Amino acid sequence: MKYSIITYGCQMNEADSDLISSLLIRSGWEPTPSHESADLVILNTCSVRERPEHKVYSVLGELREWKRSRPGAVLVVAGCMAQRAAHEILARAPHVDIVMGTGSFHRIEELLNRAQSDGRPVVALDMEEDPNALRCPPTRAGQEIEAPAPLRAFVPIIRGCSNFCSYCIVPYVRGREASRSLSEIAREVESLVARGTREVTLLGQNVLAYGRDLADGTTFPDLLAHLNGIEGLWRIRFTTCHPRDVTPALIAAMADLPAVCEHLHLPIQAGTDQLLQEMNRGYTTEHYIEIIEQIRSRIAGLAITTDIMVGFPGETRPDFEASLRLYKRIRFDAAFTFAYSPRPGTAAAERHDQVPRQERLARLNHLIEVQNQITLQRNEGQVGEEAEVLVDGPAPHGEGLLAGRARNHKQVILRGDRGLTGSLVKVRLTEGHLWGFRGVLVV
Ligand code: SAH
Ligand code: SF4
Ligand code: F3S
Repeated sequence: MKYSIITYGCQMNEADSDLISSLLIRSGWEPTPSHESADLVILNTCSVRERPEHKVYSVLGELREWKRSRPGAVLVVAGCMAQRAAHEILARAPHVDIVMGTGSFHRIEELLNRAQSDGRPVVALDMEEDPNALRCPPTRAGQEIEAPAPLRAFVPIIRGCSNFCSYCIVPYVRGREASRSLSEIAREVESLVARGTREVTLLGQNVLAYGRDLADGTTFPDLLAHLNGIEGLWRIRFTTCHPRDVTPALIAAMADLPAVCEHLHLPIQAGTDQLLQEMNRGYTTEHYIEIIEQIRSRIAGLAITTDIMVGFPGETRPDFEASLRLYKRIRFDAAFTFAYSPRPGTAAAERHDQVPRQERLARLNHLIEVQNQITLQRNEGQVGEEAEVLVDGPAPHGEGLLAGRARNHKQVILRGDRGLTGSLVKVRLTEGHLWGFRGVLVV
């Protein structure tokens, strides 16, 4: 029996899909890349903006034919949109067999059995309280698999979010913050490293909140210090961070722990104090700038990236321009940019001063233009520097080229032997581009 998973949304969803995969493989399923040859198709969905939700409905429409032509085939909608809109999904796509929310996907086997025996759609929206239960190293019949692990792996450390930014659906669909125990995380990372992983990215909607819900007082910097001691783990990254939770201890950990990379992803969202307040972000522009100045002065070679949203309700043209001025002053290395999308049930969606769609898109395009210029200038400014690059393997385009990442997470393309895959090399950066660098090996 074969399965196929299509994943939308963020890296947390990717990590959840990995777990679903390992549970299925453990019970004898085989992965297949296309739905045509699959007996089970799972859509792991995202609800953060309207567009990924539309996409899911259109894919569900396309899967109708597959479902008809394969008796016994099972169609599952999982993840954030499943959690938000289970009943709407079943009403619009009655050929769905299982709707499985963000806190119940570890019960997939049981749900598959139930769907088969009930003969009608199964809806599972319970929130698992123990985040450790939603993550386990891949095991087969209780034995650790010896299979190789990826060079760069993603490890969720905290689930959910308790911040309730006024535009955001995440706290509603993923529940409150819940941290995994330090020992569980360390066990997973040690197992990955033993099987070949050299870089981990710690994941959460706000990793800096790690430990706040734990009884033993562990903090995120404690976790970094612990993982830094794991032999064979060369690089530690983490994403994403809330500015409100940046502490001197975090900055010290980033400055002092050799495995922790020089990259901070710190979503700013908006560039005026009023917008930040209406978004319920809990910091001012002044506080944000202070963090940036402190951290840049402590950590040489640091890259700072961010998320920016335009067209939040009530955002005027002057607000937008003031925000642009702030972004030009901060000069982010790169930004994920979004046009505000009203999410049902959030506070901002209720407001009567929504910015028209055309205007939101125009501001988005303008912002992208400004940021691209800054990104390019910053990358060009690094030309001539030496960078430590972890080689991922042959570059997707170009004979004899390798692709890798510098410690600041920027991509580097260089000429070299594919035998260098998986190793750290010294590279001189020779060209800066929007996407990263070209460089040459330093021997
Ligand atoms: N927890 C992360 C964000 C996760 S969502 C954080 O706070 O940094 C990723 C990004 O999507 C957010 O940073 C925000 O910029 C964007 N986003 C969230 N809700 C949105 C909405 N309703 N419309 C448009 N973009 C949104
Ligand atoms: Fe959403 Fe805000 Fe939580 Fe990020 S911090 S997930 S933007 S509520
Ligand atoms: Fe989307 Fe859920 Fe991630 S809403 S961004 S998949 S947490």
